[in-house]
Amino acid sequence: MENLSIIGLQWGDEGKGKIVDYHAGRFDGVARYNGGSNAGHTIVFGNRTYVFHLLPSGLLKRKRLFIGPGVVLDPITLKEELDLAKKEGIKIDLTIDGRCTLVSPLEKEMDAIIEKARGPKALGTTKRGIGPAYAMRALRVIPRAMDLGLGTFDLASAKALYSLFAKDIPDLTRWTESAREVLRGRIGDVGAAILELNASGKSVIFEGAQGVLLDLIHGTYPYVTGGHTLASYVPASLGIPAKSEGKVLGVAKAYTTRVGSGPFPTEISGRVADSMREIGKEYGATTGRPRRIGWFDLVAMKYAVRLNGVDEIALTKLDILTKVGEMKVCVAYRQNGREITEFSSALPFIDKVLPVYEDLQSFLGLELTRAKLPRAVDAFVEYLERELKVKVSLVSIGEERTATVERG
Ligand code: IMP
Repeated sequence: MENLSIIGLQWGDEGKGKIVDYHAGRFDGVARYNGGSNAGHTIVFGNRTYVFHLLPSGLLKRKRLFIGPGVVLDPITLKEELDLAKKEGIKIDLTIDGRCTLVSPLEKEMDAIIEKARGPKALGTTKRGIGPAYAMRALRVIPRAMDLGLGTFDLASAKALYSLFAKDIPDLTRWTESAREVLRGRIGDVGAAILELNASGKSVIFEGAQGVLLDLIHGTYPYVTGGHTLASYVPASLGIPAKSEGKVLGVAKAYTTRVGSGPFPTEISGRVADSMREIGKEYGATTGRPRRIGWFDLVAMKYAVRLNGVDEIALTKLDILTKVGEMKVCVAYRQNGREITEFSSALPFIDKVLPVYEDLQSFLGLELTRAKLPRAVDAFVEYLERELKVKVSLVSIGEERTATVERG
């Protein structure tokens, strides 16, 4: 069986954690390849809800876990997650690539300082130091996991460089000790390990963080994350050949959410948005911030599908729409009397476009069961398949692992 890349097609929070956990049983490992502890991947299992920021979502199925070199790794967060897993009796088999960038308290401070300086134009980052960490890597200042894990890190010279960026450098002694502890015995070459598994007939899920529209280059810049979220980043960041990427499964919510600032053409406010937020528990898994709510955006989704060569889609949170009396899909944007259907051509003025909606049959009061989806739901899914020219292979109708419908 080939590998599988699972990525978010919107602004993150599409429900990737649940989909990775659902598929993980058929794979031998799960690898994170991008982002850092800004991600919050939620898995509901029985009566427990788990949120992990760095550990790949294959952990509940006891899979081999990998954190690839493209990840910006906060060792303190990782230590907390490993401690939690231990407390829960979950055995973790984790390999961290030696080339991972390590996020220190300094990058988190830089994140907060830059956000404050932006004033009303703040990006609304998670303040996990993601942008500064990727920037410090580009400046070749920041240490890698191998530098601490294998003992070659020189704190004094690091401090000398850090002092160029901040007047008061946070004390890094404790951070250095904790980082060493968490990395000890876990450093390896993730790309090589994945290829070795593949050579013995085993396969791996590549678990994306954030979503396409938060990509540093292709998203709604500057309101994006500090790294890359596209499927094409999977092989480059992990250090495996492009042909090893496998199928691309894009995850999309049946509506749209966004947390943090930035353009959001289909955003709605008022009663419907408020009830969708409450019913859908649309609060940031990392920061607890209320997520902004909007209708499904076909213009943005066609762009996301095109950029990633999406093979199949997993459509999530359809159950939330059974509590809502309306059902809309944005089919175009309007700007100065002109209709636009290509997301990239709307990007220069994306904060000013107005959505053109198609009204579909509401799901209000429908009962969703695994045995049979109601006609209105099937019709919506088939409509998306026709418009996007991609198969919707999985439909999620509840937060539990079992509330998932496979479509043949
Ligand atoms: P950063 O990644 O912390 O720099 O934040 C940049 C933008 O990406 C902000 O709007 C964040 O809210 C958003 N963001 C980062 N990670 C996630 C995520 O996992 N889900 C949803 N939004 C995210």
